[in-house]
Amino acid sequence: MNGKRCIVTGANSGIGEVMAREFARRGAEVVMVCRNVDKAEAVRRSIVDATGNRAVSLVRCDLSDLDSVNACAEELLSRDVGFDVLMNNAGIYLPRREENARGHEMMFATNHLGPFLLTHRLLPRLEGARVVTTSSMGHKLCQFRIDDLDARRRFLPIEQYGVTKLCNILFARELARREGGRGILSHAFHPGPVATGFAQDAPGSLFGYALRLGKFALRTPERGARTGIFLATSKEAEAKNGEYWVDEKVAWTTPAARSRELALELWRLSELMTGVA
Ligand SMILES: NC(=O)c1ccc[n+]([C@@H]2O[C@H](COP(=O)([O-])OP(=O)(O)OC[C@H]3O[C@@H](n4cnc5c(N)ncnc54)[C@H](OP(=O)(O)O)[C@@H]3O)[C@@H](O)[C@H]2O)c1
Repeated sequence: MNGKRCIVTGANSGIGEVMAREFARRGAEVVMVCRNVDKAEAVRRSIVDATGNRAVSLVRCDLSDLDSVNACAEELLSRDVGFDVLMNNAGIYLPRREENARGHEMMFATNHLGPFLLTHRLLPRLEGARVVTTSSMGHKLCQFRIDDLDARRRFLPIEQYGVTKLCNILFARELARREGGRGILSHAFHPGPVATGFAQDAPGSLFGYALRLGKFALRTPERGARTGIFLATSKEAEAKNGEYWVDEKVAWTTPAARSRELALELWRLSELMTGVA
């Protein structure tokens, strides 16, 4: 990946950290887009030390906060260079309904609106790039209500998480449809159940508890990152566009995740919600 520029969100832990390290090891210039800069700086240094690649930088971004996403995009655009890979990887699971400053449900804001806005703002610098979004098989567990994306009428944590991960797939598909002509490759993937800190910080998270209990059955972060790295680098991923992948293969998704109407409507609503319409 010599000469390639890669952006990885959530690169300070878990799957994102592995992907950032691997891109650096392969010679790419890596931009870590992270919320917790202290933790991220320590990881950045460890990546430089482990790979000998000094071209690893850090940009602060809280994806749940659209102002922070805009500021991050400004900083990246000000570098006046193109990017070859954007890994929309950061994500959260919350056991309780919380809202960001603009009244959007926090998982929806972080897992979908933030990456949507970041990608949108960076589009002028993504010609011919690969955009890879970390989704989850959890998207199969939700009833997708396009008129209640902020889960005001009904909030079930695991279902709302699934809604945001379904948004990831619809977004990846629609981005491929709209920007494929400019050579943008856009895919989403499920990393498998992975032993990271995911969902485990929030007190009272039953999902986090289940992940901790079942940790011996979980994949390593390296294994979890494999399909993402494959989509960012392989020739095989170029043969298709807008797909959902598991274990380096195109995988089955629900009718909702394949719906052109839902993808279009989600795009329209996301433009309105993020102010890019
Ligand atoms: N682990 C699994 O079993 C599993 C399964 C399916 C899908 N996934 C998906 O995989 C992705 C990566 O998760 P992981 O397993 O590697 O978990 P992780 O280690 O907890 O990583 C999540 C990353 O997202 C970042 N993040 C969270 N909220 C953010 C915000 N508001 N702004 C910016 N960054 C934020 C975290 O940063 P902080 O350090 O600041 O919190 C962290 O770097 C997620 O999208 C998740 O949905 C995971």
